[in-house]
Amino acid sequence: MRTHNNGELRISDVNKEVTLTGWIARKRNLGGIIFIDLRDRYGITQLVVRPDNKNYGICEELKNEYVILVKGKVIERESKNKNLPTGDIEIDVNELKVLSTAKQTPMIIADETDALEEVRMKYRYLDLRRPIMQRNFILRHKITMSVRNYFDSLDFIEVETPMFGKSTPEGARDYLVPSRVHPGKFYALPQSPQLYKQLLMIAGFEKYFQIAKCFRDEDLRADRQMEFTQIDVEMSFVNEDDVIGVTEGLMKKVLKDALDIQIKTPFKRLSYEEAMNRYGSDKPDTRFGLELIDLTDVAKKIDFLIFQNAINNNGLVKAINIKNQAHNFSRKNISELEEIAKRYKAKGLIWFKYENNEFNGSLARFITNDIKDELINVLNLENNDLVVIVADEKEITNVSLGQLRVHLGKQLNLIDPNVFDFLWVVDWPLFEYDEETNRYVAAHHPFTSPKDGQEELMLSNPSAVKAKAYDIVLNGYELGGGSIRIHNQETQSKMFKAIGLTEEEAKEKFGFFLEALQYGTPPHGGIALGLDRLVMILTKSSSLRDVIAFPKTNNAFDLMSEAPNTVSPKQLEELKIKIAIDNE
Ligand code: AMO
Repeated sequence: MRTHNNGELRISDVNKEVTLTGWIARKRNLGGIIFIDLRDRYGITQLVVRPDNKNYGICEELKNEYVILVKGKVIERESKNKNLPTGDIEIDVNELKVLSTAKQTPMIIADETDALEEVRMKYRYLDLRRPIMQRNFILRHKITMSVRNYFDSLDFIEVETPMFGKSTPEGARDYLVPSRVHPGKFYALPQSPQLYKQLLMIAGFEKYFQIAKCFRDEDLRADRQMEFTQIDVEMSFVNEDDVIGVTEGLMKKVLKDALDIQIKTPFKRLSYEEAMNRYGSDKPDTRFGLELIDLTDVAKKIDFLIFQNAINNNGLVKAINIKNQAHNFSRKNISELEEIAKRYKAKGLIWFKYENNEFNGSLARFITNDIKDELINVLNLENNDLVVIVADEKEITNVSLGQLRVHLGKQLNLIDPNVFDFLWVVDWPLFEYDEETNRYVAAHHPFTSPKDGQEELMLSNPSAVKAKAYDIVLNGYELGGGSIRIHNQETQSKMFKAIGLTEEEAKEKFGFFLEALQYGTPPHGGIALGLDRLVMILTKSSSLRDVIAFPKTNNAFDLMSEAPNTVSPKQLEELKIKIAIDNE
């Protein structure tokens, strides 16, 4: 239909007769001359229609977002637009045809939008028409291509695994699909292809990857969708370093291909313990400092009830030294910080300012002369520092200060948005204690191997066992996670026992898989990276919704098609399903 797209004509094309198509992004009438910005995926080209032009009449009728076709001659512009690649030229229109009219759109089609999230979701196809969104999806495509090329070059094969299957062990709620053929029975949509990829290793595929759809019924938020995509990987005859190495190579290639950015490998590694101690997070953002400082030893010498209570209950006293900010934080500002700490279960936030060699604030009168120097030393105190402290159970102290740290990093503008900061969190515990059910659960999933030589502790001292598991973290987001798997029956049985599954229960849940393990299982391991999260971070978007074409709201609803929705009585009858709860 067209000879060129709207991003390609240059001064060297002057005098060419061209045909262009696209949407009307903007129309202006300047002293009788009509200028039109014609937009397509590739850019914008200016059309010009003077009053003596035979198309002037139709032009007056044109509205934004009409789809048109024009034929005309490329001419040099009188006033050039340096901000536009096609800004040196315009098209002197000779023929103009309306291909499609458009109603007035409920949102402006431009990078900057003040449209409400609801409007963007309901009219998603218009939202996606915005150039910024198209750029996101073009980058997503580049990333996916880069991933496929990388794995192909290393001899991996992409294998698709089923959507209709049995519950997989990632620990979220399943999405269930009723079976018509087997009334009363349900398929579960995969939370990940975990068991299938391990079966592919037993099958001898050795190197597998898949750009895989996963489904999890969990609380949604900016970095979580119910339906998302993983770059899923599994390899045979490997150890932790092999999987980590392949993943680092992948990230290096993806950043080069997609953004032309060269990153350094290997990435730094932090043990889970160190990440929690220093950053109060198992996915630390290490683009800025404000590390947590352990004050427990000094606090023992301070006659302050909150400290003594925390210490006597095996808790911790920890602090963040907010350097050179004392004069910038009023009591009200500090109360705001306290609110954040409280959101993460801290009972309160203790603080002091160090100004002109003096301590001021809620803790000041408890700081006796004999501990001043020690405090100055441990906290590396300098004039105008503000110190905030939490004294609580270990987990609460670390997590609340960790969250406060992230908040402060943003508030104080300490984060360079152009840095891609990758790191590994390793040496995870194999188990987590679940207070609700009073039992141990697998910290990653129940097919994750303990570290060598720790099998014996799995039943006698579960909390001491470390896992061959690793998470990759990018700019404070959990980008991916994986592990070396258990490939021997005996350890697998111990694992189930440790998490309180009887043999029968294990058999009922994973029987087919346990049987497969008995037919010659190679040592194997793998990882899965959140593709949506990767694209979100690389496009500097603030939500997965900007990189998933048709996402759901945080309320798990598709505002455009209005899914989920009721179905006809006939469909329910075929499935032998009766609705017992009235939603209204
Ligand atoms: P895991 O559960 O850690 O591991 O998931 C891997 C990665 O998938 C992404 N992710 C999500 N992205 C968007 N929305 C969600 N709801 C969501 N849930 C997870 C994250 C996460 O790091 N089978 C194991 C992997 C393995 O052991 O090989 C697994 O799925 O980026």
